[in-house]
Amino acid sequence: MGAGKSTLGDEAARLSGRPFLDLDREIERRHAPVAELFERGEPEFRRVEEELAAEVLSSPEPAVIALGGGAVLSESTRAVLGRRAFSVWVDVDPAEAWERVRGSDRPLARDESTFRNLFAERQLLYDQVSSTRVRNVDDVLLAALEIEVARGRLSDLDMQGQIAVIADEHVLELHPLSFEPSEVHAVPRGEAAKTPSVLARLWADLELDRSGTIVGYGGGSTTDVAGLAAATYLRGVRWLAVPTTLLGQVDAAIGGKTAVDLAAGKNLVGAFHYPGGVVVDPDVLATLSEAQRREGMAEVVKAGLLAGRPLWELGEDEMIRGAAAFKAGVCLGDPFDEHRRAILNLGHTFAHALEAATGYEGMSHGSAVALGLLAALRLSGRSTEVVEEVLAPQPVAVDGDRAWAALQRDKKSQRGELRLVLLGEDGPLVAARPAAEVRAALNELIAD
Ligand SMILES: NC(=O)c1ccc[n+]([C@@H]2O[C@H](COP(=O)([O-])OP(=O)(O)OC[C@H]3O[C@@H](n4cnc5c(N)ncnc54)[C@H](O)[C@@H]3O)[C@@H](O)[C@H]2O)c1
Repeated sequence: MGAGKSTLGDEAARLSGRPFLDLDREIERRHAPVAELFERGEPEFRRVEEELAAEVLSSPEPAVIALGGGAVLSESTRAVLGRRAFSVWVDVDPAEAWERVRGSDRPLARDESTFRNLFAERQLLYDQVSSTRVRNVDDVLLAALEIEVARGRLSDLDMQGQIAVIADEHVLELHPLSFEPSEVHAVPRGEAAKTPSVLARLWADLELDRSGTIVGYGGGSTTDVAGLAAATYLRGVRWLAVPTTLLGQVDAAIGGKTAVDLAAGKNLVGAFHYPGGVVVDPDVLATLSEAQRREGMAEVVKAGLLAGRPLWELGEDEMIRGAAAFKAGVCLGDPFDEHRRAILNLGHTFAHALEAATGYEGMSHGSAVALGLLAALRLSGRSTEVVEEVLAPQPVAVDGDRAWAALQRDKKSQRGELRLVLLGEDGPLVAARPAAEVRAALNELIAD
């Protein structure tokens, strides 16, 4: 009571594109005000609450549900929660909660000592039904995709059982593992790990049986290939991602996409295979080069623009949590990239076109995304100040016609218009813009 479940639930639902249902409000909508039901006796209220909880929890449609503070008193509700829900405990200081509910019409919040006793009594039950405690919406979204962000976590990481670590060879040297896994498979650093031949070598060398776990330890390249090895080896085994780049921690290790490259293009062979957990330790970023950090910052700025939150102004830990949570929310709402996840392409249409025009050499993906964000903001009628200040993108010397041809191939223009991710008044949207305007925006990114 007074923990903020309704506010947090509403926000988590919005960010994960799911419907939100507040059980108390639903009871009031269908039956009578909670205070009135309580007047008929608490058992009557609990009966109605239990019935409705069973109904909403059995709905096949994924939803975010805020339960009343006493709903867990019912054994059958606890059992349904165990079977059907991922539950989090909204942690709040009892004094703060009391301040929020005192003077309200809540039947069980008439005096402070009753309130505090209830709070104490229910703790054990909350602990029993929930996977974790949360304080804000970032915590909720991270927990829902089993993403843990904790400084120093890698130094006490201990994994038991059959564990095969697939690691970037350079990362393994810089940050040796704190435990001894049953197998370690070093892969070449960076993009060179994402090849069919590296994948085939992993298939041949892995010794795990189906109960084992693969751990991907490195940047996005390593987690991409390790995830694909996990998706395919023995028809699929569990895996964990331990991303060691900023880009990996806020983007690549989140959302279940795994892949290797073909000669014809990047990420052309892959699978969706969500990791069973993502361990994010910001300490590991201390050895990252400035250039590699910028790769990640481009995605942080993108996430902040999409979320409408200046994530780039936060300290490193909160920035990583916020950006990772934003991506987690989008992926929860569209786990297999069928609709809403398209918004994550903000600026990427231009970025891909510029990269293609350079023949994928001579310009980093992060610099291309930074330029792409400039173009997307201009076409959205928004200020580009943040991108200029945080990412300082410089126009790139490429053949404009080549970049334009690549962009059109990518977007298949229809009746002289191109569909792009833009930022509208109420957030991101996919909208059509006249080809001439898009071409002009592209030209602005190209050095004379
Ligand atoms: N699956 C997805 O959803 C997704 C999303 C975005 C990007 N990606 C993929 O991610 C890849 C790019 O990944 P990336 O930018 O994270 O880097 P990376 O894995 O390509 O590594 C880049 C370099 O950083 C080094 N490195 C890694 N961790 C380090 C550390 N802690 N200290 C010092 N050096 C370190 C590596 O050795 C390597 O030299 C691309 O292949 C891209 O396609 C995937």
